[in-house]
Amino acid sequence: MELRENPGIIGLGASVPQHRLTNRDLERMVETTDEWITQRTGIKERRVLKEGEDPTLLGVEAARKALASAGVGLDELDLVITAANVQLMPVPGSSALILDELQRRLQEAEPLDVAFFDLIAGCTGFVYALEVARQMFLGGYRRILVIGLEALSRFINWEERETCVLFGDGAGAVIVGPVRGDRGILASYLGGDSSGWPLLRVEAGGTKLPASEETVAAGLHYLKMEGRGVFEEAVKMMERASLLALEQAGLTVEEVDWFVPHQANLRIIKAFARRLGIPQEKVLVNIDRYGNTSTASIPLALDEALRDNRLREGDLVVLTGFGAGVTYGANVIRW
Ligand code: ACO
Repeated sequence: MELRENPGIIGLGASVPQHRLTNRDLERMVETTDEWITQRTGIKERRVLKEGEDPTLLGVEAARKALASAGVGLDELDLVITAANVQLMPVPGSSALILDELQRRLQEAEPLDVAFFDLIAGCTGFVYALEVARQMFLGGYRRILVIGLEALSRFINWEERETCVLFGDGAGAVIVGPVRGDRGILASYLGGDSSGWPLLRVEAGGTKLPASEETVAAGLHYLKMEGRGVFEEAVKMMERASLLALEQAGLTVEEVDWFVPHQANLRIIKAFARRLGIPQEKVLVNIDRYGNTSTASIPLALDEALRDNRLREGDLVVLTGFGAGVTYGANVIRW
């Protein structure tokens, strides 16, 4: 009997900038300490783009690795989705710039005919994009590149200690394509509460308040965050999304091998695990080395776990995130 084909992750890749910014480095930039950052966030260092480095290349490199690991050529893709809080340019979307550069690097001479678009759902962008890819697969698209690319260091006020210690840059990418048997993306839950949008915002630079000398002087192009509010909501949102996604898949918390929460703060991750009653060993954590890389944090953690053989075929995995908007969501995957 022919086995059914489901949408699953058939390739994975990640890329981070070379430059490491440690807590000690930050001690020299703002009034903070390694101890404060470690205790409050779990972060020891993060990767940050240097001036002049192009974040497009992070997306290109992650995508190139994902294609190679899936054994899929660029010309075999029929859809590309890039998730980010902040795009590379206001117009066009990041997918266009990444694809164009990718084509140059892979020396594809023939013009590509591929659909692409960008998706904005805060740090939940990767979880949202994966569900969109799953639905598009079920609608007939066969090989979909999903990229989470974030370079929030470019929107951070490096003199504001409340935010500058938290974020790092990076990109992760997956290829969603056909898998057989009981493997694949089994279910997702996507949710949001738009009343929470003021918790995380960049006020200027869009059509509502275009960038001007005044907005720049007032620092309105920087990321602003109400950390406490985000913290309290994040734990509840990721728990709720994980439980609802598992319920849809007809599975229980106990059956899950790996939880991969958005890496925003180690205390949020620990509180999430406590609420679900799961041991910390089942939770993938790499925030200590990368900080909060937003839409890239989940694929970065998956990539590490796959490379060091923790994540194996057949494992049941729950990805869950929350972010600006506020949005939240979870995907249940049989790897
Ligand atoms: N170094 C030293 N002291 C600091 C620093 C710093 N880097 N930052 C803040 N403080 C001070 C504050 O000024 C405050 O001082 P005060 O008591 O004299 O007023 C004190 O530390 C405590 O500040 P709180 O904000 O209460 O600290 P809290 O324990 O809440 O930790 C933190 C702050 C780490 C931001 C936490 O609230 C958090 O992680 N929130 C969630 C953030 C998050 O997830 N953001 C991303 C969400 S979406 C996305 O991923 C893009």
